[in-house]
Amino acid sequence: MRTNGLLIAIDGTAGTGKSTVGKAVAARFGYGFLSTGEMYRALAYTVFAKKINPEDHDGVLAAARAMRFTFARQEDASLKMFVDGEYLGPKLHLEEVGNVASRVSTNGEARRVLTEKMREVGQDGGIVMEGRDIGTVVFPDADKKFYLDASAEERANRRFKQLKEAGENPNYDEILRLIQERDHRDKNRATAPLKPAEDAVIIDTSSLNLQQVIDAVLEKLPQHAS
Ligand code: DC
Repeated sequence: MRTNGLLIAIDGTAGTGKSTVGKAVAARFGYGFLSTGEMYRALAYTVFAKKINPEDHDGVLAAARAMRFTFARQEDASLKMFVDGEYLGPKLHLEEVGNVASRVSTNGEARRVLTEKMREVGQDGGIVMEGRDIGTVVFPDADKKFYLDASAEERANRRFKQLKEAGENPNYDEILRLIQERDHRDKNRATAPLKPAEDAVIIDTSSLNLQQVIDAVLEKLPQHAS
């Protein structure tokens, strides 16, 4: 075990509840929780704000190198992220930012820069880290690895419901298309493609509710991890 406890990796496709599950698991052990997609989203946001083309390799790399990340632990265990001292918050969760994030995250060198920053945050353990390549690349020696998946149709359904409840007028086919496009990009990029680590516990969440997923994860962890 590391100084501060276990390092728990949760990877998987978008829209499988990784963040909600990760936060609940972290809270259970008094651990921190980091959603590493936020860092790729912050890079996407910066690239967009600086009018850099997401396909401009050197421009994206320079932006990644220049970003200074700091984190403040919140009551719900999550680590609130600041970029160059600024909290970007909900802006990072716009649909467009997610799509640019998936594009800039194909930049292998920028990935290496962000991976190093993730290692600094997680190396002492006592943390749940959620992303796409935590168990395969960032921390191949993580103490416990999970990989959450669900059919694209089920994930599109969930997103559709969320947006509807938020008072929007979503288009199911468009949501499904974007999910499939992102899956394809995340799984087929040359560097750190999305795939389960060999020693990951794979959980298909298609027919499970969030509590059932949380229970399935907790079942595989020691009762007292700290
Ligand atoms: O989990 P998310 O939707 O917030 O992630 C946004 C994008 O960032 C996603 O399309 C893929 C990328 N990402 C990644 O490549 N590696 C990670 N460890 C986390 C996210």
